[in-house]
Amino acid sequence: MSLEQARALVQRASSIAILTGAGISAESGIPTFRGAAGLWKQFRPEDLATPQAFRRDPNVVWEWYDWRRSQIDQAAPNAGHLALADLERRVPSLALVTQNVDGLHQKAGSRSVIEVHGSIWALRCSQCERSWVDRSVPLPLVPHCACGAMARPGVVWFGEQLPREPWLAAEKAAVGCDVFLVVGTSAAVYPAAGLADTARSAGAKVIEVNLDKTGISDMVYFSLIGLAGDILPKLVGGG
Ligand code: OAD
Repeated sequence: MSLEQARALVQRASSIAILTGAGISAESGIPTFRGAAGLWKQFRPEDLATPQAFRRDPNVVWEWYDWRRSQIDQAAPNAGHLALADLERRVPSLALVTQNVDGLHQKAGSRSVIEVHGSIWALRCSQCERSWVDRSVPLPLVPHCACGAMARPGVVWFGEQLPREPWLAAEKAAVGCDVFLVVGTSAAVYPAAGLADTARSAGAKVIEVNLDKTGISDMVYFSLIGLAGDILPKLVGGG
């Protein structure tokens, strides 16, 4: 299959679901997690992205999240984000499921964004479960809830369940689409990675866009290798 044929599939689809991962934000200057320059090469997830790490040392965890918030705050959406936002305006039904917590899809203008791993701009009380958005950079460390308890980042950590509503919406989108686009994810983290298989089993054509082959490349209908910022405008762009 050629890029032109994949493009025709996308243009004909009446319902599209998309799963994005850190790779789509790489060209905006936000590091990915895996791979040579990935965050998990430099940092240990068990020290920073687990409930146990937060209980052990909330300061260290918050310092890391605050550093990432400042990095993300400087970032602008790239051509890949913008192409997906533009696609949403032309397709009758589109759901954009993202594992990213950076909010760049929304900044690019996408509206139907389903954040299955939470948002780095959200804070959640560690006691009373209140959650709220705070975009200040830097944050006062450690931030607290109005009830007096410590707040934690509103993201999903290793060993935690995905938030229920977004996850149900993501599954529904995967089951109901004609075309499922998987962009810039290593497809290494479940359950999000399983959505491609869910979509395929329900009859969707799965198209992957990634710099490299991934664990799901062999099961997809078509795999496009290259930069999301180069490929997406050609694959889904109007004009
Ligand atoms: P990863 O860092 O695991 O994978 C990023 C993928 O993007 C890799 O497959 C790269 O080849 C690809 N990539 C990098 N730059 C690209 C570009 N410019 N264009 C296209 N592809 C590119 O990131 P995720 O799959 O998002 O979870 O990781 C999944 C989850 O693991 C994250 O949500 C995070 C992490 O631990 C939590 O924090 C809960």
